Amino acid sequence: MYQVNENYLKLPGSYLFSNIGKKVRAYKNANPEKEVISLGIGDVTQPLVPAIIKALHSAVDEMAVAETFRGYAPDLGYEFLRNAIAENDYKQRGCQIAADEIFISDGAKCDSGNIQEIFAKDNTIAVCDPVYPVYVDTNVMAGRTGTYDAKTEQWSDVVYMPCTAANGFAPELPKGKIPDIIYLCFPNNPTGATITKAQLQEWVDFANKNGAVIIYDAAYEAYISEADVPHSIYECEGARTCAIELRSFSKNAGFTGVRLGFTVIPKELKRGETALHALWARRHGTKYNGAPYIVQRAGEAVYSPEGKVQLKEQVGYYMQNAKTIKDGLSAAGYTVFGGVNAPYIWLQTPDKMTSWEFFDFLLEKGNIVGTPGSGFGPSGEGYFRLTAFGTHENTLKAIERIKAL
Ligand SMILES: Cc1ncc(COP(=O)(O)O)c(C=O)c1O
Repeated sequence: MYQVNENYLKLPGSYLFSNIGKKVRAYKNANPEKEVISLGIGDVTQPLVPAIIKALHSAVDEMAVAETFRGYAPDLGYEFLRNAIAENDYKQRGCQIAADEIFISDGAKCDSGNIQEIFAKDNTIAVCDPVYPVYVDTNVMAGRTGTYDAKTEQWSDVVYMPCTAANGFAPELPKGKIPDIIYLCFPNNPTGATITKAQLQEWVDFANKNGAVIIYDAAYEAYISEADVPHSIYECEGARTCAIELRSFSKNAGFTGVRLGFTVIPKELKRGETALHALWARRHGTKYNGAPYIVQRAGEAVYSPEGKVQLKEQVGYYMQNAKTIKDGLSAAGYTVFGGVNAPYIWLQTPDKMTSWEFFDFLLEKGNIVGTPGSGFGPSGEGYFRLTAFGTHENTLKAIERIKAL
């Protein structure tokens, strides 16, 4: 008789965005005349830029001709894309990352969820609180997190690093149990916070000193506007021996529906004689058959001169929304964070409302959908996330509605 993976049964409730979806559907069914604006889920709204569309069309045409048709992609991804990434994302930022240390994938969600597979089951993970839920839930599924305490909303075997206004939403180095695997995400989802290069260097030094590995999620790197905020963990000295970096094309180029991302594992990252690069290569080769050729050509176009100009404009479009939200909420008396180096605005709920109370209030009174901070972890209670990924028109309309509440 087969048994199920009981770790799945330990997962509390359903995924945050499913809960939000259910509430919004119920509200819309009951109020079909209301125009609901979503500044909730972090999905983009702007179309792919012309340079990417051109690359997609041209790759589709290649697939129609026997001489240029492509089947399975190489395990690590096509060299043309890995070379473009190594040159533009790393070499030009002074980071030493070779093309064969880059693994192309279909996005950072899968990679951030799958990467834990190459580590032992009894490793301890550390996460920021609040956190992108995928890091914790995938470790729950793997049986790595111990037991769940519904009262504290925490797992017994996870090291939580609270990020609140009191510490500028920057995690502090663990003082008690030393974690083996440390998940960091900057610019941060959900808080929109960043840390400086000097702060990130402290984490790299900590990991190297304690034999820990950092899984650095830089999905929002393109939104950095301030000079002392690192774009890659490999800008820090010693990161090649302790850090894995995850990147996505979803938010810098609008690939949420196209799907493309990559993971960087430097060859010096070893436990004893075992290189993590070799383990991930084995996993990738066994369980993954590559992002489509067409999509990898579209990814290459992100680094073309026209692509760069067009995407800078697109990121600027969303950051204009971030400014609209941040300035509008501040003017309305809200305490707001983020929105400078990230497309997320993290606000303190007014009148001591809980995050879900504010969600209901905003949905019912303003017909606006955001994300309750508590859905990202207990330290997110009393906060609320709005995203800058809407259209200008909807963003302006939403802020006017909030101001009028
Ligand atoms: C921190 C973080 N990492 C990864 C992802 C997923 O990216 P992708 O679309 O490449 O799977 C997201 C998406 O919202 C995210 O917020």
